Amino acid sequence: MIVLGIETSCDETAAAVVDDQRRIRSNILLSQTEDHRPYGGVVPEIAARAHVEHIDGLIREAMKAAGLKFSELDGVAATAGPGLIGGVMVGLVTGKAIAAAIAKPLLAINHLEGHALTARLTDDIDFPYLLLLVSGGHCQLLLIEGLGQYCRLGTTIDDAVGEAFDKAGKMLGLPFPGGPAIQVAAEKGDDKAVPLPRPMVGRAGCDFSFSGLKTALRRILEGNPDLAVGDVAASFQKAVGDVIVDRANNAVAMARQKIPNLDCMVLAGGVAANKHLRQRLDMLCGDVGFQLVAPPPALWTDNGAMIAWAGVERLQAGLTDPLDAPALARWPLDAHAKPMPFAGKKA
Ligand code: KG4
Ligand code: ZN
Repeated sequence: MIVLGIETSCDETAAAVVDDQRRIRSNILLSQTEDHRPYGGVVPEIAARAHVEHIDGLIREAMKAAGLKFSELDGVAATAGPGLIGGVMVGLVTGKAIAAAIAKPLLAINHLEGHALTARLTDDIDFPYLLLLVSGGHCQLLLIEGLGQYCRLGTTIDDAVGEAFDKAGKMLGLPFPGGPAIQVAAEKGDDKAVPLPRPMVGRAGCDFSFSGLKTALRRILEGNPDLAVGDVAASFQKAVGDVIVDRANNAVAMARQKIPNLDCMVLAGGVAANKHLRQRLDMLCGDVGFQLVAPPPALWTDNGAMIAWAGVERLQAGLTDPLDAPALARWPLDAHAKPMPFAGKKA
């Protein structure tokens, strides 16, 4: 079974071919980071236009690299949400057109499901597991019990963690995206130098909040413009780490109430690249008897292979979609999830 996957929900245009033997036949990606850098964040209109310009060439490249004709595909998977709606529509319509042309099933994929299942492609892990998704648009803890069985244990009530890193980087005058820049700056800093709050720490449940941290940082920088960037970066990174570890620890306890022998935590999203966070999560997992699984960096950020793989899993289960499947800006993975008070800017 061979599936083409298309991803256009944020600022990466991506196409990949994956088969049911967990082989990534091709994985082509074009990042728009440079297009958005002057604005310090992703601009939806610029993103949608860039997807339109590049998607057909990228798909052609992915098929060529896989050495396949379109007629050899068994299905076409495309991200149908959540994300920036203009971009989602570009990828989904393209996927529908190819599926119609070759008369093969369409798989309209939830981008979050793509992240949730990636570790099954890369590390062949079994259900159930706990997923910590930390990206520019999301900050969630989910219990992944089976295909289509996702229970959201906690989410952010305001900013996503990557968004918080990016905004903090902007305040510090660091280049976009702020996350990697803060990690580098923090290497030379003292993480106890700047007192910052730890929003939600010690509270029941495992929801996140980062807007208070951002506001506190802004006030401190306004009052103390001469603080060393490294000290601020290290203190900020430490505060974020404290919040995530506290929330993840609660999520382990919550998930074990349902599945007592649960012992695996999977990481996804760009913030998973943060070394400090990884060390902290490694320690947490050691303490609670969990194994920490992180797909290779190219696959934990947005990519086409994760969409193709979710397509393979859904196709195997007979879960195909009609050609009028809608593009959705918001689409919680957990059908019972409460609506979020604020929409994340990207997935
Ligand atoms: O998953 P991703 O590539 O894209 C989406 O959000 O869809 O995540 C990007 C986010 C950005 O906010 C970026 O600042 C953050 O991941 N990020 C990091 C690091 N590398 C990327 N944050 C903290 N530390 C890092 N090393
Ligand atoms: Zn994503």
